[in-house]
Amino acid sequence: MDYHIEELLSEETVNARVGELAKQINKDYAGKELHLIIILKGSMFFASELARQLTVPVTMDFMSVSSYGDGMVSAGEITVKKELDEEISGKNVLIVEDIVDSGRTLYYLKRLLLARNPESLKLITLLDKPDCRVVEIEPDYCGFEIPDRFVVGYGLDYAQKHRNLPYVGVIIQD
Ligand code: IMP
Ligand code: MG
Repeated sequence: MDYHIEELLSEETVNARVGELAKQINKDYAGKELHLIIILKGSMFFASELARQLTVPVTMDFMSVSSYGDGMVSAGEITVKKELDEEISGKNVLIVEDIVDSGRTLYYLKRLLLARNPESLKLITLLDKPDCRVVEIEPDYCGFEIPDRFVVGYGLDYAQKHRNLPYVGVIIQD
């Protein structure tokens, strides 16, 4: 497929919004410790930008789940490819995602992690495509709601490419 990429959210726009989210989280978790569960690979840039602006004590762990393979359409199946290293029981957990599309990934993850008895469990996503929702799930914090388009950059990929773009762009088929 021949395609090009058009900028949707500039680097400055994204970084400014991540700063606002960090401020809100610092307020909401004041006096508490926060355990970030960073969902690889898409949320790595978002998570590092966010985490550097958190002033509450933070610990981090990583998990990798897959739902898409290399295509642009959700397969509706999710597998855990990398498990967490640490227990989450008794912790204030914040799942850090890049994007919520059908919602299946977060729906599944939330159920899986709630069963491990965290003190609290919330979800943050950089991007949300609410029009694409198939299961009922609402992120607690969201950077931007975007239309039903396939986006790349700021960690997000198309067939593992373009994660390193500093902005969020839309894939346009030529
Ligand atoms: P969901 O389970 O359908 O909500 O899919 C969420 C996952 O699909 C995200 O964590 C992304 O990895 C991937 N995904 C969904 N939409 C996009 C997109 O527009 N660009 C890149 N990856 C996407
Ligand atoms: Mg993802």
